[in-house]
Amino acid sequence: MRIILLGPPGCGKGTQAKMMVERFGIPQISTGDILRSAVKAGSPMGQEAKKYMDGGLLVPDEVVVGIVKERLQNADCGHGFILDGFPRTLPQADALSQVLKELQLPLDRVISLTVNNPALIERLSGRRTCRECGRGYHIKFDPPKNPERCDACGGSLFQRDDDKEETIKERLTVYEKQTAPLIAYYREAGILAAIDGMKGIPEVQEEIGRILGGGID
Ligand code: AP5
Ligand code: MG
Repeated sequence: MRIILLGPPGCGKGTQAKMMVERFGIPQISTGDILRSAVKAGSPMGQEAKKYMDGGLLVPDEVVVGIVKERLQNADCGHGFILDGFPRTLPQADALSQVLKELQLPLDRVISLTVNNPALIERLSGRRTCRECGRGYHIKFDPPKNPERCDACGGSLFQRDDDKEETIKERLTVYEKQTAPLIAYYREAGILAAIDGMKGIPEVQEEIGRILGGGID
């Protein structure tokens, strides 16, 4: 099962992808998570990427395409994968389609999650993430039992640097300009499925299951 989760910042890509990893036993490939690990490690690529991420801008295509190309060759992608936050530009989508053609691994579905801007802003400003295991929470919609600790592993919770109001606004503008055109791109390819992402977390997951349940291997 080879899936892309497509949608604006805060629409629930990461939340849904993590649930799908458990459910379908395929890996989540989040370019955002990979870039944040590189920033944390202080690698040259991470230092370069940080400049873009802090401003809410996209990291250059060649950097992210390189990351994904390498990641897709890992053995754990043999039964499929969930791309979360990639592709985000038309050149990235073209590069992905080229790589998958070479690997003879066609995409099954692109799931687009639709959420309006006021809800996105509320979701992003209330998001908290576990420093240890990466599980995501929301102070109102998915609160942890202890506001400072992860329910799953007890790790400390933090707020992402790019979840500040000004950066959120920039990320939403960048999404409209550079990423939203991918909806038409994949609709034309005949593999787009759009979901109302305004519903609750379990309802969205149920809808994804319904879309993927139809015998995609
Ligand atoms: P990335 O990490 O991919 O961020 P993003 O796309 O902006 O998306 P988010 O992770 O913010 O949101 P999400 O959709 O995963 O929502 P979540 O599930 O957490 O990218 C960060 C940066 O890295 C980019 O700005 C760019 O600089 C760079 N980058 C990454 N990929 C790149 C690429 N391909 N090309 C170039 N640059 C790239 O949910 C959000 C919150 O809402 C959580 O608190 C959650 O609990 C809550 N929530 C989720 N679903 C629901 C629901 N249904 N109802 C209520 N609350 C909900
Ligand atoms: Mg995410």
